[in-house]
Amino acid sequence: MLLIEEYQNHFVAYLEEYAVTKEPKNLYNPIQYILKLGGKRLRPVLTLMAAEVFDCDYKKALSAALSIEVFHNFSLVHDDIMDDAPLRRGQETVHEKWDINTGILSGDAMLIMAYQLFENYQPDTFQSLAKLFSKTALEVCEGQQYDVDFETRNDVTIGEYLKMIEYKTAVLVGAAMKMGAIVAGASVDDQNNIYEFGRNLGIAFQLQDDYLDAFGDPKTFGKQVGGDIIENKKTYLYLKALEYSNESDRLTLKQLFSINPEEIVSKITIAKQLFQTSGSADATKSAILHYTNKAFEVLEPLNISGKKKELLKDFGQSLMNRTV
Ligand code: IPE
Ligand code: IPE
Ligand code: MG
Ligand code: MG
Ligand code: MG
Repeated sequence: MLLIEEYQNHFVAYLEEYAVTKEPKNLYNPIQYILKLGGKRLRPVLTLMAAEVFDCDYKKALSAALSIEVFHNFSLVHDDIMDDAPLRRGQETVHEKWDINTGILSGDAMLIMAYQLFENYQPDTFQSLAKLFSKTALEVCEGQQYDVDFETRNDVTIGEYLKMIEYKTAVLVGAAMKMGAIVAGASVDDQNNIYEFGRNLGIAFQLQDDYLDAFGDPKTFGKQVGGDIIENKKTYLYLKALEYSNESDRLTLKQLFSINPEEIVSKITIAKQLFQTSGSADATKSAILHYTNKAFEVLEPLNISGKKKELLKDFGQSLMNRTV
């Protein structure tokens, strides 16, 4: 197996070849823009790693990896419209740089392009990949809808939140890994175990994303810090703060997360303060660790060498320490 950085470099080189400079420009330029903006390339790297974990050359998994990344970027374009987000990877979001209609249609095209990439595989593999992709993509839509529905609800539970992030984020991380295993022709048991590893890692990943949304450094984070607070997102930070607060702070928080004021600075400041003082920021950190360790436990029964397990664990560990 290679180093994580090497998988990243091989993937980016493959992506560079995937030119989308066709006509009409207003459809394809935004696609090129978002795909070349950078990003961590976490999901495609996991696809390539999963293939190699099961003794298959990563090169065979490049199309599946690209499919996952194109789908992920599609979901970001539409997500930024839904979340009214101005910044992505330190640059203007697609709908800000162009407009909302452009974001919708370029996003639609990307979803189709993601599916099209499976045509590079033989019929059996194609079918397995397409089946997993369709199931996962629908779940992502379900998760995104819950996320939006929760903005205007004030009775969201931790259980509902966990299901929402499992769907909007974690299943795609699981699927990214399972696709690598499918391309490698791994056994169904191995496919399912590696999916579970990715799913748990994905839950930790979204918890961390929520944490960084409030406490990330604006200079490096690449997204609008406090965006979730502005949008009244019912994150783990918010739900645990409600649970741990006294009656008066609880009322303040509930009121704060039911309005959309013009003046956002004080809303963000007060919310972050309550996340800290209530202990919910620390609880979120613990939850990130909990789901990362759960992912590591899933690795135990996998029929692969200890060295490979260590490499996968290193990846999980590095995600916990990220600032982006
Ligand atoms: C952002 O994903 C969307 C979430 C599911 C949190 P990433 O944090 O992987 O975004 P990029 O691709 O690295 O920019
Ligand atoms: C994103 O969740 C999930 C999907 C894009 C499907 P977020 O809304 O938290 O992602 P960011 O923070 O904008 O990247
Ligand atoms: Mg968003
Ligand atoms: Mg969102
Ligand atoms: Mg987020």
